Amino acid sequence: MTIVRASQLVKRFGPVTAVHELNLTVGEGEVAGLLGPNGAGKSTTLHMLLGLITPDAGSIELFGKELSRHRTEVLSQVNFAASYVDLPGVLRVREVLDAFARLYALRRPAHRVAEVIELFELGPLGRRQMMALSSGQRTRVQLAKALLNAPRLLVLDEPTANLDPDAGDRIRGLLSRLAAENGTSMLITSHNMREVERMCDRIHFLSGGRIVAAGSAKELAGRYEAEDLEEVFLKVARG
Ligand SMILES: Nc1ncnc2c1ncn2[C@@H]1O[C@H](COP(=O)(O)OP(=O)(O)OP(=O)(O)O)[C@@H](O)[C@H]1O
Ligand SMILES: [Mg+2]
Repeated sequence: MTIVRASQLVKRFGPVTAVHELNLTVGEGEVAGLLGPNGAGKSTTLHMLLGLITPDAGSIELFGKELSRHRTEVLSQVNFAASYVDLPGVLRVREVLDAFARLYALRRPAHRVAEVIELFELGPLGRRQMMALSSGQRTRVQLAKALLNAPRLLVLDEPTANLDPDAGDRIRGLLSRLAAENGTSMLITSHNMREVERMCDRIHFLSGGRIVAAGSAKELAGRYEAEDLEEVFLKVARG
């Protein structure tokens, strides 16, 4: 089943065309990467897929249903984490998760909150206020919140940017397991090429709002006669 199907998406901000005629699909259980230089249009693309901003042209289908017409239904099966989204600073970690669990109208909210706390080793931080957390700890709360509703599609905008190498490695392992075992589809942006090589089945390169290359890390390295994805990135970004 096709989880994400974006067709000919266009988004303009005044004179800037942030995304131009973008086509993208993500399959069930697929971990897809969206790469590209700063300002390429990655976050704009994710925000359109999440219904946070409206495309100027094109269409978006999630789980085979048009987002604009089945918004509540499809978005209830999606979740999102990004380091630039702030959760309420005065709330304690557990309060944040409880609030989102209720917002999502989960059937067994307390049970699910306990599960994600366990998954992200947040137990010792449960009573801490959000504003008293380090950026890496905040990232783990963001990811825990994003998994509360057991989404079929997880959209992650630079999820591991604030994590130390050990925490990053553990989170990558956890997310990869989630995709493999639960069939969760993911669309991830990252500037960490090793992370993308390790996690993503398929990579879409954006440059100037357009997809300029797509394939697995191996395919892309072959096509661009590059040692690794980092070299592919430099070749693509520098045209
Ligand atoms: N709300 C906005 N108003 C005006 N311009 C915007 C807005 N959001 C994004 N843009 C512009 O659209 C383009 C794409 O931005 P976007 O945030 O999608 O890039 P990105 O690929 O996520 O970059 P980064 O790697 O730095 O996160 C940029 O030129 C940016 O300045
Ligand atoms: Mg961005």
